[in-house]
Amino acid sequence: MTIGKIIDGKAYAAGLRDTVAEGVAVFAAQAGRKPGLAVVLVGEDPASSVYVRSKGKLTVAVGMESYEFKRPVTIGQDDLLDLIAELNQDDRIDGILVQLPLPDHIDEASVIAAIDPAKDVDGFHVVNAGRLATGQEALVPCTPMGCIMLLKDELGDLSGLEAVVVGRSNIVGKPMAQLLLAESCTVTIAHSRTRDLASIVHRADIVVAAVGRAEMVKGEWIKPGATVIDVGINRVTDTEDGKSRIVGDVATAEALAHVRAITPVPGGVGPMTIAVLLRNTLVAAHARAGLPKPEGL
Ligand code: GUN
Repeated sequence: MTIGKIIDGKAYAAGLRDTVAEGVAVFAAQAGRKPGLAVVLVGEDPASSVYVRSKGKLTVAVGMESYEFKRPVTIGQDDLLDLIAELNQDDRIDGILVQLPLPDHIDEASVIAAIDPAKDVDGFHVVNAGRLATGQEALVPCTPMGCIMLLKDELGDLSGLEAVVVGRSNIVGKPMAQLLLAESCTVTIAHSRTRDLASIVHRADIVVAAVGRAEMVKGEWIKPGATVIDVGINRVTDTEDGKSRIVGDVATAEALAHVRAITPVPGGVGPMTIAVLLRNTLVAAHARAGLPKPEGL
């Protein structure tokens, strides 16, 4: 029995950050300033705090300016919207990221709508979602963009391939389907109400799992030779030793016997998200400075 390849997202992300760092140096020489990324964190959710810290470190590591705005969980919606209006006006800032989820008393859609689409490095604003869906130049959500980069690196031309995306979130599933469509794949979006998910997944040359349910996609569902991208990050506790660990949305060990290639969890898609965020910030900085899009990105 052959065993599939494990896609090294960590290494790919490190290479992408190196390319971004080179682009940052060229931008700084041309524009006379560094690109700037502002991250807004509301509350003290431990997972969000870890992400934000790691974003800050990697932003500085590629030579950009990092600005962090921490606000208490009790902040009112109007005060948060005022902060975003200030960041929209601030010329040092090319990218604005509001860490999600936000507390229940704040309407996420209104906050995202308040971000200047030219600074929307998460690609969540309806203007960017609409541009992506209509094939126009857009800032694209980081995680699905990272998935496409890994797929093209592994498979080359994706055109004509059958792709199944499991999950329909605005952050991953929907933009992922749009990106695959733009690569001329035949795309199916499956979700929690889909009937006979196993047989739908079995059609796919490309499976992208982004449902947020631990090891839900079983190995035997995978068509032999398919490439699998696992976006899931689920913490599970072992019933025997009580220790917790992180697993994806795919039963990786089983799937390895079927796949051509698969991303591991951790070390697959995860590291790509921040690398693409830095890439998007550099792209946004060029557009705002009236410079052409940097090459190779
Ligand atoms: N929370 C989890 N993933 C993301 C992301 O990609 N962007 C933002 N802003 N918040 C998140």
